[in-house]
Amino acid sequence: MEPVRKLSRSIKGKVALVTGAASGMGRATAHVFADEGAKVAVIDLTQDRVDAVVKEIEGAGGEAAGWALDVADGEGIVRVVKEVGERFGGLDILVNNAGLATFHGIGEPGYEDTWTLALDVMLTAHMRFVRAALPMLKKSGEGRIVNVASTEGFGATPGNSPYVAAKHGVIGLTRALAVELGREGVTANCICPGPIRTGITEGIPDEHKEIFAKRRVPLRRYGLPEEVAHVTLSVVLPASSYLNGVAIPVDGGMLVKNA
Ligand code: NAI
Repeated sequence: MEPVRKLSRSIKGKVALVTGAASGMGRATAHVFADEGAKVAVIDLTQDRVDAVVKEIEGAGGEAAGWALDVADGEGIVRVVKEVGERFGGLDILVNNAGLATFHGIGEPGYEDTWTLALDVMLTAHMRFVRAALPMLKKSGEGRIVNVASTEGFGATPGNSPYVAAKHGVIGLTRALAVELGREGVTANCICPGPIRTGITEGIPDEHKEIFAKRRVPLRRYGLPEEVAHVTLSVVLPASSYLNGVAIPVDGGMLVKNA
C-alpha cells in the first residue's frame, strides 16, 4: 500500500485579503486566519474601523494591515490589491466577503439604484478582485478564492431580489472561475451562510431571531461569525487542494429542512 501522504493543514506565512473585514464574518475570518499565522489584509469602507481590527489582530500576536476601500470602486480595487502585494510580497488567499442588506420590492420606486448597489458591491467587486489578484494567485501555486454568497444564492426571500440575484450570480461566477482557473492551480469555492449574528442581522430583534431559528433551522439558533470563519479556513488550507467549484451552505441545516 502507498503511504498516506501528509498534506499541510497550515496557512502560516500565507497572505490573505479579506473584504468587509471590519465586522461580522469578515472580521472573524481575518482573526482566524491571523491566528493560524497568515498575514492578513483587512479591507473595509472606513479607515477607523479597519484600523480597529488591525489593532485587535496585532494585540493577539497576529500580522495584519488595513486599507479603506469601497469595493464598488474598480480603480480602487486595482490600487489596493497592488499595495497588498507590495506590502506582503504576494497574495495566496482572496476572500470576497463585503456585503450589505438590500431588501427592495421589485415594484417600488428607487429599485434600480438598489439593484445597482447590490450587484456592484456583491458581484462585480468579486470579479474585479479576482482579476486584479489573478497574477499573484497564479504565482502562489496554492491560490485560493473564496466568495461569500448566501443561502439566498440557492433560494429566495420575497422583496429581496437585488440581493438574491447578486448571490445567485456569486455562485455562478465561482463555478465559472473554478472551471477556468483550475489549470492555473487556483481553486474557487463559495461559502453560503444561513442566518448569522453579524452587523447585517443586528437590527432584527432577538425574539424574531429566535422564532425564525426555531421554525427554520435544525440547530434552532442563529450561527456565530466564527462558525463560518472556520469553514472558510478549511476551504483555504493547502490540504483542501481538490475542493473546487462548490457552494458550501453553513446554515445549521436550514436548506435541508422541509418541515
Ligand atoms: P456585517 O455587516 O457584519 O459585515 C459586512 C461588512 O462589509 C461591513 O463591515 C461593511 O462595512 C462592509 N461593506 C459593506 N459594503 C461595503 C463596500 N461597498 N465596500 C467595502 N466594504 C463594505 O455583515 P456580515 O453578515 O458579516 O456580511 C458578510 C457577508 O456575508 C456579506 O456578503 C453578506 O451578504 C453575507 N451573508 C450574511 C448573512 C447573515 O445572516 N449575516 C447570511 C448570508 C450571507
